[in-house]
Amino acid sequence: MDKLRITGQRTLQGVVQASGAKNAALPLIAAALLTAETVQLSNAPQLMDVRTLAKLLRSLGAQVEQDGGQIRLSAAAVNHYEASYELVKTMRASVLVLGPLLARFGQARVSLPGGCAIGARPVDQHIKGLQALGADIAVEHGYIVARVATPSGRLRGARITTDMVTVTGTENLMMAATLAEGETLIDNAAREPEIVDLANLLRAMGAQIRGDGTSQIRIQGVDALHGASHRIIPDRIEVGTFLCAALAARGDVTVQGAEPSHQDALLDKLREAGAQIDTGADWIRLRADALPGGRPRAVSVRTTEYPGFATDMQAQFMAVNCLAEGAARMTETIFENRFMHVQELMRLGAQIDIDGHTCVVHGVPQLSGATVMATDLRASAGLVVAALAAEGETVIDRIYHLDRGYDAMEVKLRGVGAQIERISDRISGK
Ligand code: EPZ
Repeated sequence: MDKLRITGQRTLQGVVQASGAKNAALPLIAAALLTAETVQLSNAPQLMDVRTLAKLLRSLGAQVEQDGGQIRLSAAAVNHYEASYELVKTMRASVLVLGPLLARFGQARVSLPGGCAIGARPVDQHIKGLQALGADIAVEHGYIVARVATPSGRLRGARITTDMVTVTGTENLMMAATLAEGETLIDNAAREPEIVDLANLLRAMGAQIRGDGTSQIRIQGVDALHGASHRIIPDRIEVGTFLCAALAARGDVTVQGAEPSHQDALLDKLREAGAQIDTGADWIRLRADALPGGRPRAVSVRTTEYPGFATDMQAQFMAVNCLAEGAARMTETIFENRFMHVQELMRLGAQIDIDGHTCVVHGVPQLSGATVMATDLRASAGLVVAALAAEGETVIDRIYHLDRGYDAMEVKLRGVGAQIERISDRISGK
């Protein structure tokens, strides 16, 4: 298994380029199943998760070609409606094929995702919403078996209020409703920028959607959708990770190709911590090379749904608080088990008390390098941020977690002065 070796306390300086958003690319790729015509995506990140979803679509009979940041998709020849456990178990976002398959083909058999390191993560709201749209759904042998049970054989519009805000739940229902008969209202909908990006692609494909970005999304169903081209939004979590790295390492870094308006909650917290933040149309600059007292200020955070502070930024911001002046409370409200990085940060010398869904992080003047283990995607990003600031060498094991959501992270960080390298068993022969 690949590892990262990082020698910390190198000044980070310069420009890093943002990639397209993983959590936008995945639903956009699934949306291609809604039409027989070609969908072209640009600014696509080169990630394990994107490759996994492409493999799933090919297993359904679709054509998927990725050439760098370009992805060309055609679901004209789809003739298989099952997403196997083998594929879904490696990436739970595979459940995003459920809505499109049901809407276009009237049937789908999708493996239940199962548990995940950060929480139980059920998909009951996806199922409840699709049942409201007229699907007959049973869970058999670990699979969601869905069939459209209306006389016309098409889903029919409905009012759906989800019990909690769910991102992929909103995306699955929005996609399904595009081909339903009549109007659908999704109430308590997620408002993430990735939802708006998906709605923009679906509109370009001929869908009628209003209210995306708010908690009430209205979709007027149409008979068919056509092909379209779409540029994927920047990855606000990747951008946020680089900004946290720059602050922890007291650097001066500009992230190019970002969308500042998607980052308000995080930028507010970074400013509160003492960072100087400047933004332009498509860039964000963070300067932490002249922090008052030489250390960030401790800043308390509570993760919530967008536009609040993202749960996917919690671990990276915790790493910053580990080095801060003072103590901070960090409360995780979205996932029940998203503090796996705490023990690993403590191996680097951090002082953190866990109390249920809240951690109290007592800042220390310095962390020291050690061998640590990645447990999930964003936990591994938090360990990278901490290691960049730690004295000496850190080795992070199991970075396959990182590769799922970060496009060539070590190359990009080296570009702004980090001393970081990938150690591969294949190379070291161990
Ligand atoms: C999306 O996951 C993201 N993944 C996650 O990013 C992100 O952490 C999460 O939204 C929250 O922002 C993708 O977009 C591919 P949810 P999703 O449904 O949609 C509960 C990353 O690091 N819930 O919004 O799976 C659920 O258990 C990943 O890139 C139900 O109970 O999250 C959770 O507690 C990790 N029943 C809460 O709602 C349901 O049917 C929010 O989950 C659905 C959700």
